[in-house]
Amino acid sequence: MINILNSYKELSSIVADIVEKQLRKQPLSKLILPTGSTPLGLYDELVKRKLDWSHTITFNLDEYLMNHDHPYSYHSYMKKNLFDRTNIYPNNCNFPFRPTLSFEDKMYTYRGIDLCILGIGSNGHIAFNEPGSSFKSRTRVVDLTEQTIQDNSRFFGSAEDVPKQAITMGLGTIMESKKIILMANGKHKLNILKVAMNGKVTEDVPASILQKHNDVEVFYCD
Ligand code: PGA
Repeated sequence: MINILNSYKELSSIVADIVEKQLRKQPLSKLILPTGSTPLGLYDELVKRKLDWSHTITFNLDEYLMNHDHPYSYHSYMKKNLFDRTNIYPNNCNFPFRPTLSFEDKMYTYRGIDLCILGIGSNGHIAFNEPGSSFKSRTRVVDLTEQTIQDNSRFFGSAEDVPKQAITMGLGTIMESKKIILMANGKHKLNILKVAMNGKVTEDVPASILQKHNDVEVFYCD
């Protein structure tokens, strides 16, 4: 079921309520976090709420294969938009790394993710699991599709500057989260969102795997 909201402000604040509730209920929460345009309002809202992040452990969904200090890396994005504005410990902020099996081991040692926040790409990807990704996939290095490179060129200035590869959590990895929230913003996302949530469950539409999860909430605003 897609919850249609009235505004981006409402989208950000409803998802912030869910994160806040989780952190208050269980300070030692393990979260999976997204990047991109959609969660910017969520991160602003969470910062405003001055929550205690000192026991929280985060795992980001993905990262480009590039220098982490690059201004457009997801490390830099997260520091700028959330981590440097809260009391979270930098050592508790994890990003997929190589060898990817060691990253999966690290996630496993924390015994399960409590809450995973996702966005959706215009081609139906979640994290950088592009169409055709196996539903069983684990964290791995992937080639980005032309569509994703075009979509993300707005951050880099030009498509040539977008890295062509990334490390992403797999669909199998994401599905092990206890609770999943999918956020989507903009009319250009509505069609793919409907296909993913109401259409056939197929690896051609990676987000359609969410139909098989027993605790997913989907929020959309245009
Ligand atoms: P966006 O990206 O929030 O920048 O639209 C979402 C995604 O590609 O997963």
